[in-house]
Amino acid sequence: MKPIISPSILSADFGYLARDLEMLNRSEAEWVHIDIMDGVFVPNISFGFPVLKYVAKLSQKPLDVHLMIVQPEKFIPEVKALGAHIMNVHYEACPHLHRVVQQIREAGMQPAVTINPATPVALLKDIIREVYMVLVMSVNPGFGGQKFIEHSVEKVRELRELIAQTGSQALIEVDGGVNQETGARLIEAGADALVAGNAVFSAPDPEEAIRALRNL
Ligand code: DX5
Ligand code: ZN
Repeated sequence: MKPIISPSILSADFGYLARDLEMLNRSEAEWVHIDIMDGVFVPNISFGFPVLKYVAKLSQKPLDVHLMIVQPEKFIPEVKALGAHIMNVHYEACPHLHRVVQQIREAGMQPAVTINPATPVALLKDIIREVYMVLVMSVNPGFGGQKFIEHSVEKVRELRELIAQTGSQALIEVDGGVNQETGARLIEAGADALVAGNAVFSAPDPEEAIRALRNL
């Protein structure tokens, strides 16, 4: 099985967003990863729904929306209105995660739970059967182009084991510092999907960079 590649448009050239989205439409990317930040849950602000409305219109690929915000459940209708395929919410931002996951599903999207580098995989035991995907952060969220945290490979292995033990169908996605070298090790450890920002958009040929990741 080839890995799912979900390029993060956080690293795209916002002056030429339409051009970059057309490149993604032509590419072997399966999804488009969208990072929404609020300056509270993470120390940065990215883009909001008025901009994403146009991203959704131009993208022919399913949207993999990653909310790095407090109270993400408030924005279920807005994410739904984008036509998103996946809505990722942070474990650390949701005291009532089980309810939020149900609400996302009821809204007709695939629910995914995201864990920060310091959040243990074991905490997912009671939610793992309810989610479509777990997103493992391999950097502290907030910025593109950060250095990969090595321990993430071990976390993917642990998560793969938890999924097998519980009979969950959840996919494993990894986000942060993914390139051909770290990507290959993540796939070997059991990752199904890779988010890549810098490794795609800073490459001389982004379409080729996506193809290379997909063929790892
Ligand atoms: C980080 C975001 C990532 C980011 C990844 O907070 O969640 O999706 O865009 O960028 P790279 O691949 O450059 O680490
Ligand atoms: Zn992300």
